[in-house]
Amino acid sequence: MALIALGVTGGIGAYKAVEVARGLQKRGHEVVAIMTASATRFVGPLTFEAITRRRVITDQFEPGANADIEHIALASSINLLIVAPATANLIGKFANGLADDFLSTLYTATRAPVLVAPAMNTQMFAHEAVRRNLETLAARGVRFVEPGEGYLACGWIGKGRLAEPDEIVAAAESILHPAGPLRGKRVLVAAGPTFEDLDPVRYLGNRSSGRMGFAIAEEAERRGADVTLVAGPTSVEPPAVRSVLRVRGAADMHRAVLEHASAADVVVMAAAVADYAPAEPARQKISKDVETLTLVLKRTPDILGNLGRQRLASGKGPLLVGFAAETEQVVERARAKREEKHVDLIVANDVSRSDAGFDVDTNVVTIVGPEGSESLPLQSKSRVAGEILDRVERLLLKQPVVSHS
Ligand code: C5P
Repeated sequence: MALIALGVTGGIGAYKAVEVARGLQKRGHEVVAIMTASATRFVGPLTFEAITRRRVITDQFEPGANADIEHIALASSINLLIVAPATANLIGKFANGLADDFLSTLYTATRAPVLVAPAMNTQMFAHEAVRRNLETLAARGVRFVEPGEGYLACGWIGKGRLAEPDEIVAAAESILHPAGPLRGKRVLVAAGPTFEDLDPVRYLGNRSSGRMGFAIAEEAERRGADVTLVAGPTSVEPPAVRSVLRVRGAADMHRAVLEHASAADVVVMAAAVADYAPAEPARQKISKDVETLTLVLKRTPDILGNLGRQRLASGKGPLLVGFAAETEQVVERARAKREEKHVDLIVANDVSRSDAGFDVDTNVVTIVGPEGSESLPLQSKSRVAGEILDRVERLLLKQPVVSHS
């Protein structure tokens, strides 16, 4: 299930957007309708409200639209932005970065994929200005559902009529579930640090940015997987995969991962989970009236280790990938960790290097698997993600892991 923002602009085809919303819902998606001022002159917002069972956003400055967290967070929580119908005006705004209403602002604020279904008079569609704007958007990765040909409402015959709702829904599905080697596979990725609260204002954390796990989640989704990302507290924005669950401490992460692991085909633990957490977090802020302060810490649950043990005991479970951040004897320790935690792949990295590991865009890793270890050269984290997933795909082919099915 995806959360889809459906932008409706002021064209005669606006009524067809109601069918698009229904089609998306029938496939299990949640739809939020956003109407431009001119769209509301063609179709009443109430129609969309009744269909989507959500408040329709019609004005950026309308009281409530900014106070309601759901709307503010829309840019980062949607999995797809569709505009159907898209007028020449809207296409021009998107192409040029104008942001004078909710829909155009949402376009510049979101990192979700964008699908545009243009609809306008034939001459307008063929105009050089419109063509150029469409090309600009296409070069930026925006996808289109071409308008159909035929009699247009304005009396002309030609190309410009909004594509049929079924076609728009099918295009949305192919963006949400691209054909790829991981199509149909559920991949659970845990990324980022965990913060263990000491008192209401302080915590123990670590330097993980989440970038490596985010790159894996993004690449897995690009390869067609249905991705759930469990993200610890990081300032780096997570990718817009199907489901992003925010957690804080190791205990929260443990709960979230266990809850989703049984339905997953692959679990990648790229998170830097704290090994120790305060045994008893203070209810009040700890005062500084003592010269030395002793903290009592207790071990946190070993999430990956628990998944490995569970799989060993039951003989079924997802393929497991772990990371090993070390500063010495990197490969030896990774091999030992692979055995100890009963996992399939361990990605080892030397975090003492300045160009690898925490908070940088590159990584140097050695992947330890059932057939030995392979050291990879320094490369971007997104390429490392591809290398890891290539090996995951090979293992999935070799050993059809019994999981939820
Ligand atoms: O045991 P160690 O922390 O060295 O193992 C690292 C691997 O185990 C990583 O994949 C990390 O995400 C995972 N881990 C975990 N739960 C912990 C600590 C680490 O799942 N409490």
